Amino acid sequence: MLNSEDRLDVLKTCTPYHFHAPLAMLVCYDSIVSWKRSYDGKDMGEVDASIVATHMMLEAANLGLGSTWVGHFDPEKIKKAFPLPENIIPVVLLPIGYPDQASSPHPNHDKRFDVSTTVFYNSF
Ligand SMILES: Cc1cc2nc3c(=O)[nH]c(=O)nc-3n(C[C@H](O)[C@H](O)[C@H](O)COP(=O)(O)O)c2cc1C
Repeated sequence: MLNSEDRLDVLKTCTPYHFHAPLAMLVCYDSIVSWKRSYDGKDMGEVDASIVATHMMLEAANLGLGSTWVGHFDPEKIKKAFPLPENIIPVVLLPIGYPDQASSPHPNHDKRFDVSTTVFYNSF
């Protein structure tokens, strides 16, 4: 959890997407204990962290807060700045705060691909 002025200032050197929020949560996984699929060794840590972060965003919304999913940060800078051990892998940053009343969604928000271009049914 990053909520002191010092830490938020450091965060600003790691990403342009801090939105001057008064609080940011950095969601990580531990690559030592994360589950690796035996068939191909795939590390499910990112999946786990993403599920947790999604629930955190939903709870923030329940509390009347705004957040956004930020993947655009320099992971090496973040790991050095806070500092994180090698096995703690940052996945997503959630800047959190009360939305500006004057804010509006990005123009692309209402532009959606037709569902037929994103959902495929296997006919085997
Ligand atoms: C994997 C991923 C990475 C994202 N990274 C960023 C980011 O670095 N900065 C940012 O402002 N928003 C980021 N977003 C949020 C998107 O820009 C967008 O706000 C969000 O997906 C909601 O989209 P919608 O308005 O089309 O519903 C990211 C979203 C996803 C799924």
